[in-house]
Amino acid sequence: MLNLTGKNALVTGIANNRSIAWGIAQQLHAAGANLGVTYLPDDKGRYEKKVRELVEPLQPSIFLPCNVQDDAQIDTTFEAIDKQWDKIDILIHCLAFADKEDLSGDFSNTSRQGFTTALEISTYSLTRLAAAAKPLMKEGGSIVTLTYLGGVKVIPNYNVMGIAKAGLEMSVRYLASELGSSNIRVNGISAGPIRTLASSAVGGILDMIHHVEQVAPLRRTVTQIEVGNAATFLCSDLASGITGQVLYVDAGYEIMGM
Ligand SMILES: NC(=O)c1ccc[n+]([C@@H]2O[C@H](COP(=O)([O-])OP(=O)(O)OC[C@H]3O[C@@H](n4cnc5c(N)ncnc54)[C@H](O)[C@@H]3O)[C@@H](O)[C@H]2O)c1
Repeated sequence: MLNLTGKNALVTGIANNRSIAWGIAQQLHAAGANLGVTYLPDDKGRYEKKVRELVEPLQPSIFLPCNVQDDAQIDTTFEAIDKQWDKIDILIHCLAFADKEDLSGDFSNTSRQGFTTALEISTYSLTRLAAAAKPLMKEGGSIVTLTYLGGVKVIPNYNVMGIAKAGLEMSVRYLASELGSSNIRVNGISAGPIRTLASSAVGGILDMIHHVEQVAPLRRTVTQIEVGNAATFLCSDLASGITGQVLYVDAGYEIMGM
């Protein structure tokens, strides 16, 4: 039975009602998990207001700013978890960033700064958050991150984010290997293209979605809720034997050769 009652789940990466993290948060909540939510703070507090209003019906017991480029904010988040929850069972890593100019045109034009920023936020942050969560996953746990086919195969315009996702998928395996002895499972979900704030920065995203709708076995792309269902499964005891894997939630697109 898929039941997350009594489980504490920290969800990162909700920006608005199109966010994949929002689909995941709703399904974790529906399965009974107690939620904590972090958001990316900005000077004018726009994200905070939007995310706070959005998640209010799910009644998260923790709601904190957490820019993954800021070690102090990461530490504050996990100190709050230690105080309020005592233990954490689930960590959802659902965030990425690359400069818009690095998500179209020639990959070889990627700047040093653009490359570094994309990999710091999109790749390194999984390892940093996992390290912070590890001592609090006292009864074991499940970590799920979001990846994309562009980390395995060349997808036009995905460019530096493909490098970031390749590193992220390898991070899943190294973390799974290390944390398995603490009964912490680490998996990735490779989602099909979905229109979100982040994906709209990738050149030609609508063409990608239309292509998938024509070619994928299910003749459509996927929804945030479908990704949320798969994440909830991976975080449940039903997936107790699964770690170090990348699960494709992409309407089958990945199996197609032509
Ligand atoms: N949308 C798609 O087509 C698709 C497909 C496969 C994988 N993904 C992945 O799903 C994840 C979520 O993206 P999304 O499509 O839901 O878009 P989104 O824009 O809703 O989410 C991206 C999130 O990253 C957060 N973020 C960016 N920089 C941050 C930082 N420094 N610190 C903390 N948070 C930061 C943003 O605030 C936002 O909440 C990403 O890893 C993305 O690569 C998306």
